[in-house]
Amino acid sequence: MNRHRGHSIPELELLDFPWDDSLPIPATVQSVLDSADEQLQAYWDQWHQRPIEQYVACDFRDVWRALYEITQSKLATGNTFCEWGCGFGIVTGLASQLGWEAVGIEAESFLVDRARAFLKLHRFPGEILHGNFLPHGSERLARSQSNHACLFHQVPNAYDQHDLELDDYAMVFAYPWPGEHHFQQEVFRHYAREGALLLMFLGPYEIELYRKTSSS
Ligand SMILES: C[S@@+](CC[C@H](N)C(=O)[O-])C[C@H]1O[C@@H](n2cnc3c(N)ncnc32)[C@H](O)[C@@H]1O
Repeated sequence: MNRHRGHSIPELELLDFPWDDSLPIPATVQSVLDSADEQLQAYWDQWHQRPIEQYVACDFRDVWRALYEITQSKLATGNTFCEWGCGFGIVTGLASQLGWEAVGIEAESFLVDRARAFLKLHRFPGEILHGNFLPHGSERLARSQSNHACLFHQVPNAYDQHDLELDDYAMVFAYPWPGEHHFQQEVFRHYAREGALLLMFLGPYEIELYRKTSSS
């Protein structure tokens, strides 16, 4: 549900967020990352058999470090986590390992199967939903003639199918394609709940954290 109460205007505040890119990765996380590396390598080796143009992996180690920092510093206002476009489900799995009630949403059915298998392999309690992570009507927030990759998925809305809303989540993680991060930020600004966090991986060492606030 979109909550623009009274005359308050939702804003996104960029948080000063000192995640440590040299933080050692614990062995229990390393073994998950090793198995993720294996799965991805197997996929890239056979990419021509199943090319998915939109799939690119973030740096799972640095995203884990950022998630760890957010978890430890209790920056979130809740425990629910949603990954927009979860690919192989690795970040969803890592969030669930850190104790988040994690959900990944993915449009490509092949990736949905892989992500579910990944969670099952590691016995992570997270959930993978097949569908579109864009809330109904959010397409209007894109500038006219923009050709953002995330706008072109002809799959049903993921939230509807499971009686969910974007504002059920205390944190969203996204790795947008270049040029679409402003659009995704706008979607979050309009539809996320007040106080929710948006963690974005924008490229190597480029991880940003935003909070939805409101000003009157
Ligand atoms: C750049 S990849 C990032 C994958 C993963 N989050 C990561 O960081 O490794 C973007 C993923 O989002 C998915 N995707 C893009 N737009 C989507 C949409 N509107 N709804 C659901 N999934 C989408 C793509 O299929 C792709 O797997």
